[in-house]
Amino acid sequence: MIKYFSTFSWIWTFEYTIQELWLGRECIWFSEIDKHSLKTYNKHYQNHKNYWDITKINTDILPDFSVLLWWSPCQSFSITGSKKWFEDYRWNLFFDYVRILKDKQPDFFIFENVRWILTNNKWKTFKIINNEFDKAWYNIKRKILNASEFWSVQNRPRIFIVGQKKSLWNFNFEFPIWKKKKEFLKNILQKDVDKKYYLTRIQIINRYNSNYHSNKSQLENNTCCCLTASWTKKRIILNEDDETRKKYYNKKLDNNEVKKLTWRNLTELEYERLQWFCDNYTNSWISKEQRYKQIWNSINVNVLKELLKNLDKYIKKSKKI
Ligand SMILES: C[S@@+](CC[C@H](N)C(=O)[O-])C[C@H]1O[C@@H](n2cnc3c(N)ncnc32)[C@H](O)[C@@H]1O
Repeated sequence: MIKYFSTFSWIWTFEYTIQELWLGRECIWFSEIDKHSLKTYNKHYQNHKNYWDITKINTDILPDFSVLLWWSPCQSFSITGSKKWFEDYRWNLFFDYVRILKDKQPDFFIFENVRWILTNNKWKTFKIINNEFDKAWYNIKRKILNASEFWSVQNRPRIFIVGQKKSLWNFNFEFPIWKKKKEFLKNILQKDVDKKYYLTRIQIINRYNSNYHSNKSQLENNTCCCLTASWTKKRIILNEDDETRKKYYNKKLDNNEVKKLTWRNLTELEYERLQWFCDNYTNSWISKEQRYKQIWNSINVNVLKELLKNLDKYIKKSKKI
């Protein structure tokens, strides 16, 4: 059995995806400290070992594994985050990840984050990251993959870095490529949504204008913009039939037009569908806000599926299976 270790596990998207793929892989060790996300963990998995705070992990007692998965807090790199870059304490978590890589030397790793990690600080951040992986003795390949290119109707570009131990063989990892077939936004929308999700006229104007670009792109491409958790940025949807929605593609609406239409918040279930989780993957008894946050903050399952399928070919080669 190929063993994975997942760090910053959040809502166990890696485990969920691995199970969905039936690859016969196991992700039984993880490191996570957030009490809310642990509730979602308990709903799905019970017997995996949590090593808790990554900064305190003693690698001497950590079992061996073949693949290390990482998707750290992105606030130090995100343009919507603290913007403190290297001064943000969360940046240091990267070095704990590298410490585990160096000490345990798994065959492969996956690293995911916001795409700004590439270019921010005039590429300084990325140069450091690259250099650290090199010093840990890994070759890497990187690519920005967008959920919208993998059947999801969400615009969610993220950087994925896949690393392979230098001692294995020449690394020629091929990232999954764009899939043509596209899901339509209307297919993920719930019917008969409770009235608490609907917006008042004032809310509509404020929310439409404060997120103008995102809402416009939603109408343009029939694709929802990247999910976010905060109420003011929470994604709204034009709750009209397809014909009406089409009519407004590519159009900047003035306040009068916006007011005439019916808008509502996306529901928690629709958030889950946009990330390609099964319905009610997150716990319905945690607060609504926590639920939105858990889903928004996660990786898109479809993208991860395609990536893991490709990686599996290399894993098989490394294990000669
Ligand atoms: C934002 S989430 C990961 C999100 C990720 N980008 C994704 O797509 O799922 C970051 C996780 O790191 C966890 N975390 C933060 N500091 C940690 C630490 N010292 N040890 C272990 N986990 C930590 C947080 O609790 C959170 O669940």
